[in-house]
Amino acid sequence: MEEILSVKNLKKYFVKGGFARQKETVRAVDDISFSIKSGQTFVLAGESGSGKTTVARLILRSIEPESGDIIFDGIKITNDASSLKKIRTECQMIHQDPYASVDPRMKIFDIVREPLDIHAIGKPSERKDLVFAALRDVKLDPEEIASKYPHMLSGGQRQRVAIARSIATKPKLIIADEPVSMLDVSVRVGILELIKELQNKHGISFLYITHDLSTARYVGHVISILYLGKIVETGLINDVLLHPRHPYTQALMDSISEPNPANLQKEKKIRINEPIETDVYQGCRFRARCPYAIEKCKQEPELEPSGDKRSVACFVKID
Ligand SMILES: Nc1ncnc2c1ncn2[C@@H]1O[C@H](COP(=O)(O)OP(=O)(O)O)[C@@H](O)[C@H]1O
Ligand SMILES: [Mg+2]
Repeated sequence: MEEILSVKNLKKYFVKGGFARQKETVRAVDDISFSIKSGQTFVLAGESGSGKTTVARLILRSIEPESGDIIFDGIKITNDASSLKKIRTECQMIHQDPYASVDPRMKIFDIVREPLDIHAIGKPSERKDLVFAALRDVKLDPEEIASKYPHMLSGGQRQRVAIARSIATKPKLIIADEPVSMLDVSVRVGILELIKELQNKHGISFLYITHDLSTARYVGHVISILYLGKIVETGLINDVLLHPRHPYTQALMDSISEPNPANLQKEKKIRINEPIETDVYQGCRFRARCPYAIEKCKQEPELEPSGDKRSVACFVKID
């Protein structure tokens, strides 16, 4: 199978606010398409609120899409029991907060074993070996750690336990939603290295979700940049991050690069242009903040091919 996951024209809108007059529709995910090649890491990047976690929840069918298709390992995921079982055993999720995602009253052994029991994977007598193998895979010593509780571990160790739990069922795809953003900077690289190692060893594909482009570059092969529910740029990771063509990608890169005077100037320009808009869903969603905006940006730009394996949704496009 060339592609492990393919998402086509996915949409999810939320209605916010209690009273009819204050109701506001948020287009959290608005017609997005992408696919992930087997054995690769696909990055979905964007600021907080851009719709990243909503995409993850749609893939795992913990929420229903408005419209659009999710094809996982050649099977269209719908609400029938067999496709739900497939996605929930063969696709696992790692969350931002390793503490919130595990039950604090369970021992590490039981935390890692639980998905094997739930999905009836392996004979019960074999499950101990599967748990120990998963713990060794994430570089934890099973003898030492299996009978401990989560509060006895460091943040980095807890995230390793969460990863062991996610690989125990031998998934084909792991969705990692900001897996290092709550961790100490000093332990982040170790977790990112582990992700790469697990990919090499087991051929696992990853959907890596982040607001942080520097960690994205460390693990990713392909990236899509999300802005208010729309993909604005997509391509091979080094092409997109080293030569951004969408003004929003460029702004994100500038915000992490060396503070040289030229970048400060650009940042200021973007801040001056903070949203003054009433309707962000008319035309290009970034135009109110964009230093390059022109009249035409009141129309909606399509995500169009622009160079090798690259697509950009912008009328201006930076060179
Ligand atoms: N259950 C929900 N009800 C209403 N609005 C939601 C819900 N979930 C997410 N949203 C809104 O959808 C948008 C995208 O949210 P989210 O996918 O969590 O973004 P991200 O993960 O990129 O920070 C935000 O505006 C958020 O407030
Ligand atoms: Mg999120």
